[in-house]
Amino acid sequence: MAVRSKSSKAWLNEHVNDHYVHKAQKDGYRARAAYKLLEINEKDKLIKQGTVLADLGSAPGSWSQVAAKLAGSDGAVFALDILPMEPVEGVSFIQGDFREEGVLQEFESLLGGRPLDLVICDMAPNMSGNSVTDQARSYYLCELALDFARNHLKTGGCFLVKVFQGAGYQEFTAQMREVFQSVQVRKPDASRNRSSEIYLLGKNKR
Ligand SMILES: C[S@@+](CC[C@H](N)C(=O)[O-])C[C@H]1O[C@@H](n2cnc3c(N)ncnc32)[C@H](O)[C@@H]1O
Repeated sequence: MAVRSKSSKAWLNEHVNDHYVHKAQKDGYRARAAYKLLEINEKDKLIKQGTVLADLGSAPGSWSQVAAKLAGSDGAVFALDILPMEPVEGVSFIQGDFREEGVLQEFESLLGGRPLDLVICDMAPNMSGNSVTDQARSYYLCELALDFARNHLKTGGCFLVKVFQGAGYQEFTAQMREVFQSVQVRKPDASRNRSSEIYLLGKNKR
């Protein structure tokens, strides 16, 4: 059996004792991340019956579960991840790398020209441990997602995206301001305090 490092033991401990992990198991969500979206949605009312949205970086699927439930049968959820995802009722999913042009085209055909009310993006690259590389990879994905939002959102649409504070943050926020009338920061309770992750919410696409 592999010997666990101190930090992975600490992670395991924290995970096992985490209130949101238990709650997710009880409520039937695939990840504790569900509560981040639920909390943001409670405040900002992004998803309601009839909302048409894309979920980028959707696996294992807790945001898709939340989104499909809230959007109902009049809405639509289109999801994408580089990893496989168990089917979620009411969600159309494709597996592929969002950085690849062919995958983007396949996803666009799935939308079939439907303009979106909302794009949610929780994508995060595999962390290499090199913070400069990790930040750059992460913002590259965010920029691709912002481009996608710019091209597919209706006027007035919204974009929720996970970012990591640090290098690249100011520049990316400025890019968001060019596309949206307002850009706000959200740090839901379910997002661990020690994590530099926050969510940017672009409202009212110009
Ligand atoms: C934090 S997880 C998302 C959790 C999800 N929101 C949920 O509630 O279940 C980040 C996801 O981004 C995906 N991802 C990372 N790089 C990607 C890429 N280049 N293309 C597509 N998905 C990617 C990962 O595979 C991972 O599933």
